[in-house]
Amino acid sequence: MNRRSFLKRCSLTAAIAAICGYPLLVERYLFQVNRYQIPVAGLPPEFEGFTIVHLTDLHYGFLMPMVVIRHLIHQANALKKDVIVCTGDYVHEHNRTEQIDRVWPELSKLQAVHGVYSVLGNHDHWADSSRSLDWLHRSGQDVRHQAVSISRGAARLWIGGAGDFWEDDPGIDRAFKTVPPGETKILLAHNPDTIDTAYHTRLNLVISGHTHGGQVILPFWGPPILPVINKRYASGVVATEKTMLFISRGLGWAILPVRLNCLPEIAVLRLSRQLLTVDESCAPNTAQHIGATSRPSNTGRKLIRPF
Ligand SMILES: [Fe+2]
Repeated sequence: MNRRSFLKRCSLTAAIAAICGYPLLVERYLFQVNRYQIPVAGLPPEFEGFTIVHLTDLHYGFLMPMVVIRHLIHQANALKKDVIVCTGDYVHEHNRTEQIDRVWPELSKLQAVHGVYSVLGNHDHWADSSRSLDWLHRSGQDVRHQAVSISRGAARLWIGGAGDFWEDDPGIDRAFKTVPPGETKILLAHNPDTIDTAYHTRLNLVISGHTHGGQVILPFWGPPILPVINKRYASGVVATEKTMLFISRGLGWAILPVRLNCLPEIAVLRLSRQLLTVDESCAPNTAQHIGATSRPSNTGRKLIRPF
């Protein structure tokens, strides 16, 4: 082999390694803080600008080490917010109670002025349902099948939780059974398909994860794999007939440890009584790589209504 052929082969090998290595080793760790403005119909004026930090799908385990989990929890605590909400899949592997026992003491360090509220996802049940439910309860963050209120003046906002769509009873009506009909209700539901189950409660906003945004988003195609029935529920803000829905791209991985064109995110949701543009609602208002500077990304003009 002459020198030119050798260099050519080296360049080709390096290019293939970079193409394969980026989704596996780079993008999965490019965590962003993405800010979204969420239009909420009927939001009391007292809650204009109420800010929710949303963590979901951490998937602690293989290729998601504890040092990363601690970093993400530190970042969430450092953000300005009123509450933190978590929507499940805190661990990755099946039948691994030790991972549950390791991750929950860290999750229990999350702090916000008006509290931290959490539900479980399918992976938490696959790891061990009773252990996960026990830790959820012990953490003081449990809103599964129940709701808590936050007051500002005479106004109240309720945050309630659903059981996982695949592995538990959603129990939406049960969660809000004591809440007066006209009050603002936010549901935490791991899987966004939960909103298409049968219930009577009028929800103002649902916050979900589960999809990871598809993890891989192909240009002109979108995500090839989405683990939901309704393929509209990929990521971002979706105005459904029943409620406004937010789906985070989450932080971890499932099926394959890759991400491409689908950066992991901590979402910061700012509630608003105002309508937004389509682009504003589907894309984050600002995206900030953790530890880097922010970049704006709003351009749309077409108005949408919450529901
Ligand atoms: Fe997940």
